[in-house]
Formats: sequence, structure tokens, C-alpha cells
Amino acid sequence: MHGLVHAQELRHSIPVLPVTPDTLSGWVDGQPERVARWVSAQAFRGAPDKVLSIPDEEGGVERVLYGRGPGEGPWPWAALRGQLPRGSYRLEGVEDPAERERAALAWALAGYRFDRYRSHPSSGAELEWPGCDEGRVLRLADGVCLARDLVNTPAKDLGPGELAGAVGELGSRHGAKVSILRGQDLLDENYPSVHAVGRAASREPRLADLTWGDPGAPKLTLVGKGVVFDSGGLDIKPAEGMKLMKKDMGGAAAVIGLAHAVMDAKLPVRLRVLVPAVENAIAGNAFRPMDVLSTRKGITVEVGNTDAEGRLILCDALFEADSEEPDLILDFATLTGAARVALGTELPALFAQGEDWCAEMLEEGVKEGDPLWRMPLHRAYRRFLDSPVADLNNIGSSRTGGAITAALFLNEFVDAGTNWGHVDTMGWNEHSRPGRPAGGEGFGIRAAYAMLERRYGKG
Ligand code: BES
Ligand code: MN
Ligand code: ZN
Repeated sequence: MHGLVHAQELRHSIPVLPVTPDTLSGWVDGQPERVARWVSAQAFRGAPDKVLSIPDEEGGVERVLYGRGPGEGPWPWAALRGQLPRGSYRLEGVEDPAERERAALAWALAGYRFDRYRSHPSSGAELEWPGCDEGRVLRLADGVCLARDLVNTPAKDLGPGELAGAVGELGSRHGAKVSILRGQDLLDENYPSVHAVGRAASREPRLADLTWGDPGAPKLTLVGKGVVFDSGGLDIKPAEGMKLMKKDMGGAAAVIGLAHAVMDAKLPVRLRVLVPAVENAIAGNAFRPMDVLSTRKGITVEVGNTDAEGRLILCDALFEADSEEPDLILDFATLTGAARVALGTELPALFAQGEDWCAEMLEEGVKEGDPLWRMPLHRAYRRFLDSPVADLNNIGSSRTGGAITAALFLNEFVDAGTNWGHVDTMGWNEHSRPGRPAGGEGFGIRAAYAMLERRYGKG
């Protein structure tokens, strides 16, 4: 699927030369008249994402010109693959290995298609590896595509068992230890709020717990919201709002994709991954508005709205994560509509406790073309989470600032001294762009991976 092959596996490949409106004419000047006429007849000007095949004298393809546009990370390269006919290609004149890596990553990501339910898998163009860190390209492409696949899989085929199972498979692949708590186990082992949210579904709630790496290395813990379908619970969502809710495990998917990259790179960390996996369903035993739940931390939570379920499953997992005093906790969650109102669907919100790792993640996100935007843990809004009967309410009493109050809720379960990051993400592309088809998306995986590589070294 990544469509990248080594030179020795190819008999012949067609060169692809990146150009811009500024470099095109200089190149054309050095070409035979026939080529100059063709470029002009096709009105090709080297505009971003445009492709022009140049015929040779026998009517074959001599070369492809590609308008390499501006932009960060792999995206300026992402429109190439989809426009090339079946065949073998190689990059020409790309001297910088980092640029070659971006082109290879774009090629791999642009080959993604969710084909689980299709009878005819597609085949197409392949690219010769351009000479770059192949391992890095593949682990990031595989991580992102794994996340996309998990999000795209409908809830019918990806229940709490299958989502926890995906953590299990990841563990087997990398020699990690995985334990899965299920149903009543969650009560016995004191994960009451995970259980409360998931208990009404016909498929029992789970908590998947993966550990990997040298126990003496710095501890990195990833937590992902794994709501396989969010009906809203008794505070049921209207049809429009419910439609996309198979993607409500997008945080878990991102964390699984990121964990894959971390373990594949053998980053020198002791990794832990916690995925609470539940379905927020409706039945006679569902948790109700104004119920008071207990949590792993012992804090009581009044349910202001059963549709604010993500924070309820995350709080138990975060408290467990924090109990080991890790160097860094990162959680990913499709947590609030409010974060989308603030930043739109293509820019995840990042809430951070601890400055150094956060600055690095933001910086790497820009470089990798996987940006996030920091939002504040504005303490003054903490009062909106007060409850008249319990320690905390699960929704803010203000109509505004919903992404912040959700983050502040989670913050109650993490020690003030812990490096902790919370990514509130859409997990889904509403619109198709080159290399980024509409559907499941692993926002933040590459930004986080690049930050972790920088923080912990390359292993
Ligand atoms: N999974 C949703 C949040 C969501 C909705 C993310 C749409 C992305 C797109 C979450 O569980 C939810 O329902 N949140 C509510 C919270 C509210 C009840 C306080 C929301 O955002 O409306
Ligand atoms: Mn919800
Ligand atoms: Zn949800």
C-alpha cells in the first residue's frame, strides 16, 4: 500500500522532477525545442500540485514535471501519486534527504485507502525509495494509516472488544505486555467511571493496558479516548450530531498509531498505553443525568450530561497513569465540539501542563505539517465544574469555554507537577485533500512522535 520499492526491484523508472513557477523556465531553456513546445502547449507553469508528463520521441513518457508548492511537511508532495498512471517512478534532482523523506512520506500517505469492505483493491503507481530514513517514513505512515483504519471501521465491527484487541495485536507485534480488564473486572479493579459509561452497551466495556521497554527508562504514558460509538447516552444526540460518532475512538486510534511508531523506533522509554474502550449506549441500566459516580481517584462526579462521557472514561485512566509518576503523559481524545468551534476541524487543540515538551511539540508539529494550537488551562473557569452535591460536575455550567472546562476536568485527575498534555482532536477529515482523504485521521501523531524523538533521543 505504501507503494515504495527499492531500485533493484525495478527494470525501468520514469524520473519525476519537482519544479516551481520560478525554476521551470530555467529548466525548459536547457531542453530540446520539442520539450519546450510541449510544456508551452500544455500551458504548464509549474503551479502547485500540477503534473505534466513529457513524451519521448517514441511516444512513451520521458519524464514527469511536478509543481512542488509551498507548505510544511509532506503535503507539498501529496498530490503527485494520485495523478500518475500505473508505472514506476523516481525522484530527480532532490538533493536534501529531509526533503526526500517528506516526498516518500507523502507518497505513502497518498496511497491510503480504506478498503476493508471493498471487493476490488486498487493498484497503481510505485516510487523508487529516494534515499532517506526509510524506517522513519514507514513507521509514521503505518502509524497514521493504522489510526485511519481504526477510525473508519464502523462500530458494528469495532466494539470495545475489538478496540482493546487492537492494543493486544500491537503488543504482540512489538513484544509488549498487554492486559485487558473487562466488564465486572473494571469494578473489581477500581475503574468505576469507565464501567459506568460502558455498562449499558451489549458489548462490555474494557480497559487495555500495554507496557513496553526498559523499566528503568523514562516513563511515557499515552491515554486515548476509546468510545467506539457515542449515542450521547440518555442525553441522546440528534441524528446530525450522532452520525459521525463511530469516530469517537479517534483518540485511542491516534495513541495506538503513535505507540506503534515509538516501539518500532525503539525509543529509549518505558512506554505505557491505556485505552478505556466503551460504547456510550442506551439501555435500562444506563448511567443517568444527575447520577453521582465514583472515580478511581475517589473524587465523586455528578453527571450533568451523559454525553460528556469521554472525560469520565479518561479520568480513571489518567489517574492510573499519573500514579506511576511518569516523565510525560499525553492523552488524545475526540472530546468536545467546542474545540472544533474554536479551531475548526483541521487543527487539534493542545492543553499542556509543563512547558518544555509542549513548545517542542508545537514546533515539531509545524515542521511536520501536523500542527496543533495551544489552548489555556484557564484556572478561573474551574468554578464552572462545581457541583452542589458532588466534588465535581462532568459538564461546565457556562455555555461557553467547553473545551477548556473539559480539559480542566481531566486536569483534576493529574498531579500539578506532572508533565501532561491533552489533545482535543476531530480525528476525522471532513474534506478530502491530497494525501488526506475524507474520513478517519490521526491528527497529532507525527507532531508527537517528532517531539518524543527529540526529547528521548532516537534509541
Ligand atoms: N464525542 C463528543 C465530542 C465531539 C462531537 C467531538 C463532535 C467532535 C465532534 C463528546 O463526547 C461530546 O458529546 N461532547 C459534548 C459535551 C457536552 C455535553 C458538555 C459536546 O461537545 O457537545
Ligand atoms: Mn458524548
Ligand atoms: Zn464522545
